[in-house]
Amino acid sequence: MSNKQFAVTIAGGGSTFTPGIILMLLDHLEEFPVRRICLYDNDEERQSWIGRACEILLRERAPQIQFQYTVDPATAFTDTDFVMAHIRVGKYAMRELDEKIPMKYGVVGQETCGPGGIAYGMRSIGGILEILDYMEQYSPNAWMLNYSNPAAIVAEATRLLRPDSKIINICDMPLGTMLRMAKILGINQKDLDIQYVGLNHFGWWTQVRDQDGNDLMPALKEYVKQNGYDVDIDSDQHMDESWHETFRKVRDVYAVDPDTLPNSYLKYYLFPDYVVEHTDPNYTRAHQVMDGREKEVFGAARDIIEKGTAQNCAFQVDEHAAYIVDLARALAFNTKEKMLLIVPNGGAIENFDPEAMVEIPCIIGRNGYEKVCQGKLPQFQKGLMEQQVSVEKLAVEAWIEGSYQKLWQALTLSKTVPSARVAKLILDDLIEANKGYWPELK
Ligand code: NAD
Ligand code: G6P
Ligand code: MN
Repeated sequence: MSNKQFAVTIAGGGSTFTPGIILMLLDHLEEFPVRRICLYDNDEERQSWIGRACEILLRERAPQIQFQYTVDPATAFTDTDFVMAHIRVGKYAMRELDEKIPMKYGVVGQETCGPGGIAYGMRSIGGILEILDYMEQYSPNAWMLNYSNPAAIVAEATRLLRPDSKIINICDMPLGTMLRMAKILGINQKDLDIQYVGLNHFGWWTQVRDQDGNDLMPALKEYVKQNGYDVDIDSDQHMDESWHETFRKVRDVYAVDPDTLPNSYLKYYLFPDYVVEHTDPNYTRAHQVMDGREKEVFGAARDIIEKGTAQNCAFQVDEHAAYIVDLARALAFNTKEKMLLIVPNGGAIENFDPEAMVEIPCIIGRNGYEKVCQGKLPQFQKGLMEQQVSVEKLAVEAWIEGSYQKLWQALTLSKTVPSARVAKLILDDLIEANKGYWPELK
């Protein structure tokens, strides 16, 4: 291992996930030495709470690391090795509308799936391109590790518009699920050897083995048939009752295709009627997060600032942070770790659009990733994925061309939307709500 120490920029410094990523970096300094951490956000006030608290924490726990928080792109992106991005364009106020507007018409209202995910995508693309361009301007050799959602649409946009950029799009849901699988089986998550195929928030495990090659699927299926992925787990993420409900519902999602194990997000596509019935249109997930995680994280930050110390503070780490730090380490030190990434298909799934962004296992090393081929999709997965990837591609084309028609088609094609009529009603409301965030549509 070299003596190199790395500089990390966290874009979306005011995110509820920023303290967790910083704590995770501090936990791994032996394997991934860090010399500088810089937070960047375009909301100075929001970020300053997290920034001031993290400044105190770092001064106490790792004074050798240079720490800054800034809204100035030149300061944030000069001399950086890794940009860890988790921005939310429009923040929770717009998430609330993404969830509520479709619900008005009896359609799933979700952050990344269905019309809400499309609306969020139309806001995110510009923000992500801006950060990517800053990175390339000020630190052309850096990697951007992007968590910002909706990852599928963001990934398709960067594939088309910045094909040579060093950006890797990731999602923590499969890892979070694999921690559950490991708990169900009574083994360590790093002992799981998996095959997985799909799009982001739209995929299936096709194999789960241990490192000796033993098939763990039968034991997992026995459990999932009864309980989904709902299991008592020592984690701070995905713990709210609504997440438990999502993990329990996997039981029914699994029953539709018992040859595979599903991503929990498939409930929005395969059981949209159930989801709508079980969502309070006046108190959606955005409210739960604002009353839960956001209050906790910003409350903890305020507490640190008032006391002037981060000793015994309430900031917590979770699998979300573990994943992005593992990925940075794999790129920096050529660990050849196998991780799920969202990457251009290019034949890795034989019978699927080579130009689609798919989520599959990859081997990560110094020069990026190598994809692990996944063979052919069964008809059920193929049909679903072709429909969904077309939604994502049409949304990106609509953003690029400013096309109302294509965005209407994207909504119409979403499996969560019952008709072109309903798609249009939702779209017209979304356009009104997203003024100033979306390109103008003609
Ligand atoms: P948050 O609202 O707490 O934080 C997002 C921050 O981004 C805010 O401080 C906001 O001011 C900032 N921001 C918005 N637009 C910006 C821009 N153009 N430039 C710089 N900063 C900007 O949100 P959160 O709940 O902490 O989530 C953050 C992001 O991470 C979201 O996109 C969320 O969907 C995503 N996320 C992804 C995964 C995954 O699996 N890929 C998992 C968890 C969260
Ligand atoms: C999972 C998904 C993320 C998503 C998050 C939402 O971790 O992989 O993509 O952003 O859940 O969680 P929240 O608690 O904000 O509803
Ligand atoms: Mn995700």
